[in-house]
Amino acid sequence: MPDVPNLTMNDGHQIPQLGFGIWQVPPEIAAEAVASAIRTGYRLIDGAYLYMNEAGLGEGLRASGVPRTDIFVTTKVWNNDQGRARARASVERSLKTIGVDQLDLVLIHWPVPSRDLYVETWEAFVEMREEGLMRSIGVSNFNVSHLKRLISETGVVPAVNQIELNPELQQPELRAFNSENGIISQAWTPLGNARSFEKEPITAAAARTGKSPAQVILRWHVQLGHAVIPRSVRPERQAENLDVFDFELTADEMEAIGTLDVGLRTGPDPSVFKFLE
Ligand SMILES: NC(=O)c1ccc[n+]([C@@H]2O[C@H](COP(=O)([O-])OP(=O)(O)OC[C@H]3O[C@@H](n4cnc5c(N)ncnc54)[C@H](OP(=O)(O)O)[C@@H]3O)[C@@H](O)[C@H]2O)c1
Repeated sequence: MPDVPNLTMNDGHQIPQLGFGIWQVPPEIAAEAVASAIRTGYRLIDGAYLYMNEAGLGEGLRASGVPRTDIFVTTKVWNNDQGRARARASVERSLKTIGVDQLDLVLIHWPVPSRDLYVETWEAFVEMREEGLMRSIGVSNFNVSHLKRLISETGVVPAVNQIELNPELQQPELRAFNSENGIISQAWTPLGNARSFEKEPITAAAARTGKSPAQVILRWHVQLGHAVIPRSVRPERQAENLDVFDFELTADEMEAIGTLDVGLRTGPDPSVFKFLE
């Protein structure tokens, strides 16, 4: 079973560098997928209220046979739950639905600047962390301007910024800001919908190392120091995606993959996204 390294967050707590994402995992198979991922060796599960599978997340945790204290559980507060009272209600609901006493990490899912509630939501996060509802707090899909405002108005720096990152969307300025401020960049849709699997820098590194394109891309994330949360409902791919700690990409291979950045998102633009359902 691969040993996944931990990264240390700016609040002193540890986070596994590679975890298991459960977006679009249907509720009826979520428990099975989570239990299988944990038995395969994953120690971080990335959930969200929006994914509608938090009950399965909790069920899978308990079915896995691995102690709760060994698993890092993340959830997120959705856009229409921003604001002090609703954010608290959302976190309390997630605790109850997952069936845990404390969450390891809670993120503001999107900034939704048009609502102008993310600073107030962050203040509520700080209070809830002090009360012990969650151990660490972070954000997701925050651009530099959103981060600057959060930090200047509250003085509290997020532990994590979970953002879309893959070879075709490398966001170098945002990653640099995260890293200069001690914020871990955690990559969502890290495989980029397989769009770069056939690109030469990926196929060449895969051929040299005997690894798959997905493993080369996940290793690229790891070597850049990102945290990363791939998803697969297939046990064989869960194992494949975890097995990226026994090889290394060369500096030339890292540089070649760096040239694949075309700034192409698979998801929405955080500066305008305001979906509330
Ligand atoms: N914060 C946010 O706004 C946000 C947004 C999106 C996602 N996320 C988080 O990030 C996680 C990962 O993102 P994601 O689920 O969009 O995408 P992903 O992990 O990049 O890719 C998942 C897709 O790739 C396939 N796949 C997985 N491993 C593979 C492999 N080794 N070879 C070939 N295909 C493979 C999966 O199919 P199979 O299942 O059939 O294997 C699935 O269709 C999510 O689950 C969620 O936790 C967060």
